[in-house]
Amino acid sequence: MSAKPSTDPRGAAVEVLLAVLGRGRSLDRALSEHGPGGDDPRDVALCRAIAYGVLRHHRRLGAIRDHFLRSRLKSRDQDMALLLEIGFFQLTDMDMPAHAAVSETVAVARRRGKSWAAKLINAVLRRFQRDSAACLQAVDADPGRSASVPDWLLARLRRDWPDDWPALLAAQNSRAPMTLRVNQRRISREAYRGRLAAEGIGARPLDGFEDALVLDHAVAVSALPGFAEGDCSVQDAVAQWAAPLLGAADGDRVLDACTAPGGKAAHVLERAAASLLAVDSDGERLQRVTETLDRLGLSAEVRVADASDPGQWPAAERFDRILIDAPCSGTGVIRRHPDIKWLRREADIAHLAVRQRALLDTLWPRVAPGGRLVYCTCSVLRAENEAVVEAFVADQDDVTVVPPVLPVGRPVGHGHQILTGEAGVDGFYYACLDKR
Ligand SMILES: C[S@@+](CC[C@H](N)C(=O)[O-])C[C@H]1O[C@@H](n2cnc3c(N)ncnc32)[C@H](O)[C@@H]1O
Repeated sequence: MSAKPSTDPRGAAVEVLLAVLGRGRSLDRALSEHGPGGDDPRDVALCRAIAYGVLRHHRRLGAIRDHFLRSRLKSRDQDMALLLEIGFFQLTDMDMPAHAAVSETVAVARRRGKSWAAKLINAVLRRFQRDSAACLQAVDADPGRSASVPDWLLARLRRDWPDDWPALLAAQNSRAPMTLRVNQRRISREAYRGRLAAEGIGARPLDGFEDALVLDHAVAVSALPGFAEGDCSVQDAVAQWAAPLLGAADGDRVLDACTAPGGKAAHVLERAAASLLAVDSDGERLQRVTETLDRLGLSAEVRVADASDPGQWPAAERFDRILIDAPCSGTGVIRRHPDIKWLRREADIAHLAVRQRALLDTLWPRVAPGGRLVYCTCSVLRAENEAVVEAFVADQDDVTVVPPVLPVGRPVGHGHQILTGEAGVDGFYYACLDKR
């Protein structure tokens, strides 16, 4: 039967998970479409916590479920299969009384008209409470199950990072901090930290990141003093290296070729009075760029275009600085978007590498002599980073590779790789290519 719109957080979480895992929606979109109907912020927070948590641990929770069920549930009962995962997640990872977790979870099955499943879920969750050790030992014997990662991604991470993959997997399942970029055109970082403290919001600077403040606890954006006036933006610290590495000066002509939603373009303009062309192939996402620039009191020329199409660029057009923040797998930001683990397919990686190379091939001739191109991704896969840049550089005779010197991460061939969780930041790759 089809479910009624849910006002309770667990029922809403079932709908969110069905949208992501059943229909391929992104988690952000699923939460906005299927979040709890009421306006109690505690319900919204609980639904989010459950949806994020179940997606982080989906494979492990599914294996726990399979351990207790004699046969798999039918595909029309995928809602009940996910409800069981929600039940296990509350019992293993959430700080709430077990009896409430069980009874509230069982109640969702009843509300969805599946009394048979209510009995089953009640029995299975109570068995798990009584005797979880043997089950967890069997499930966690396999690293793909214990870290809840698809086999193809696990194989790539092991191959790419033979010494680091266990820490990387753990970091991908952790909760990311909320980090701000202070607009030091308007207010110094220390002064803004003082404003946060006055509102009871603790924050600390991060070594090597000039504009970043990491909050002790995430808060609603509306609680940030001066946000609407442009005093700060929300942006992970590692993404705050793009602008300094690009090194645009006042008056430079800058192209941000993959700009939406505009975080890095705004940072470039906060640091220099440059003339910036902000391009993205997604017109809807570009609207967010305009909103962000307006809020920060910055301006740029904004254009919808496929930046990898040579026909977009007049032969004589040159830029002093070009940023390619390329479309990628997002494997460096899985802790913020755990849906990536289940929505990405291995075949996507090769397709992305082709698009990444096309952006480099088209835009390199647009870099002015003496200018710089920064290529970056929020991926931790060599196939999208070092492999793309290495092959590109091998085909050019006018590139000087400038190794980024950064306080976190490691040099990898032509660029610099930061793995998720190092110094608490997201996973990211940077390469700086200067035109001779
Ligand atoms: C990683 S996001 C960019 C994030 C952005 N730089 C920021 O800091 O907020 C990649 C963007 O590239 C855009 N994109 C993908 N292929 C493109 C292409 N061929 N030309 C222009 N934009 C493209 C996507 O629409 C997406 O908005």
